[in-house]
Amino acid sequence: MQVEIQSGNLVELAVDALILGVAPGRALDGEAAAFDDRLHGALKQALDDNDFNGKVGSALVIPTLGQIPARRLVITGIGDAQGRRAQDVTRAWGRAARAARDAGAHTVASVAPPAIGESVAESFRVATEGVVLALYRFLAYRTVNLPDKEVDAFTFVDERTEARKGVEIGNAIAQGTCLARDLGNMPADVLYPETLALRAQEIALANDLSCVIYDREALEKMGAGAIVAVGKGSERDPRLIHLTYKPRGESRGTIAFVGKGITFDTGGMSLKPGGGMEEMKFDMCGGAAVLGAMSALPALDLPYTVHGIVAGAENMPSGTAYRPGDIRHTLNGKTIEIISTDAEGRLVLADALTYTSRLGVDAMIDLATLTGASVVALGDQGTSVFSSDDSLAGEIIDAARWNAELMWHMPLWEEYHGLLKGSYADLRNSGGRPGGAIFAAMFLQEFTEDTPWAHLDIAGPAWSTKETELAPAGASGHGVRTLLTLLMNRAAG
Ligand code: BES
Ligand code: MN
Ligand code: ZN
Repeated sequence: MQVEIQSGNLVELAVDALILGVAPGRALDGEAAAFDDRLHGALKQALDDNDFNGKVGSALVIPTLGQIPARRLVITGIGDAQGRRAQDVTRAWGRAARAARDAGAHTVASVAPPAIGESVAESFRVATEGVVLALYRFLAYRTVNLPDKEVDAFTFVDERTEARKGVEIGNAIAQGTCLARDLGNMPADVLYPETLALRAQEIALANDLSCVIYDREALEKMGAGAIVAVGKGSERDPRLIHLTYKPRGESRGTIAFVGKGITFDTGGMSLKPGGGMEEMKFDMCGGAAVLGAMSALPALDLPYTVHGIVAGAENMPSGTAYRPGDIRHTLNGKTIEIISTDAEGRLVLADALTYTSRLGVDAMIDLATLTGASVVALGDQGTSVFSSDDSLAGEIIDAARWNAELMWHMPLWEEYHGLLKGSYADLRNSGGRPGGAIFAAMFLQEFTEDTPWAHLDIAGPAWSTKETELAPAGASGHGVRTLLTLLMNRAAG
């Protein structure tokens, strides 16, 4: 969905639900006071009667009993002004949008969210993101029990140009995130490397990006032996996807986003256990985040050249599959001894990172559902951030914090370098269980050719089996907002 903005008189608006923010003291000022007047003090009364605490995450639905054209008020807690963060506004408007939907509202309007610091645009941006993300659902494959409660229209009422700008940016970022969710949620029999590449082409066409796709023959010719190896067990050939965004004006630099696009990970000959294997359709969520972020760039009008690269392959066991013990030549010439065919993400990324470094970029950031070890280390909400460049890691973690995406800086320890050595080849693709996320990151670093690089292991937060405040169960689109915020911060700073 798309959030709208219009000018008008809130108190006279005929909608199913009207959203108002209230802080912990329950002080009613400005618009809230006007509503309370029209309701003859019933708003204040309802807040008191329900002991409304005003904390972010609290919400209260109040029927207006025909006193005003709006059928109900949805009060959302906005927390104290002191120390209010962008993510609080995102959560508060996400909460309000869900409360309105659960109450059966189809048309919803909202007052202005409280400004964050000095910025009106930023508060509209993050409130818009909260609404769109919280209302997202993946219903493409449902034929029965479709939810009848659905918000069809959501409108902020405000006339400021900064407010309009904020809504525009929030829509673009949230839609990029929802696009990543849609791709992640699609089953692997529908979304495989070829169809993922087709989707990428559509995204490119719709958003004025250029798009190059390499199929298996092209990858073989190029020398991308690692991607080809991972794809060999599948009937569905691998693809390397390359999108490029060029700014309208002068370019202030070049950055690349690189994603793991394993459309299904059975483990290959090192077959995974059956329990939970269905979740491995989400093994392309890094690639989905890259495509989602790329789709938002034109609307954000960012002054950078941005490359989006996705290594797409399906990891299957079969008579043609690659095996443990096989040795493969990668794009940068190094040889890899396969210890586990289930350590396939680092293989496809090895070639993708070499390819990207050859584009001559100032920095590259890869996103991958790479290791179970990252989930063990940081839990299912935390992303492990590894980087050859501390200031790049710092930018990523700042951008993540702004969006309440949990990311933590992890080490690349020289002392562990010896683990990478193969017995019969330059490198081996697995070094045992201890420090598994670090090993994988250090393996990737071998293919970065000294290009400043960061690696986000999103194995934990890429999808969730439970509904969260801003997403239903399924793919989360984690990473899209952080990548875009990072670029926006660069552009502003
Ligand atoms: N896609 C998996 C990692 C994964 C597992 C992500 C569970 C999210 C949830 C990856 O390809 C993989 O299988 N990694 C192995 C590496 C091992 C064989 C060295 C792992 O983490 O067990
Ligand atoms: Mn695997
Ligand atoms: Zn995998």
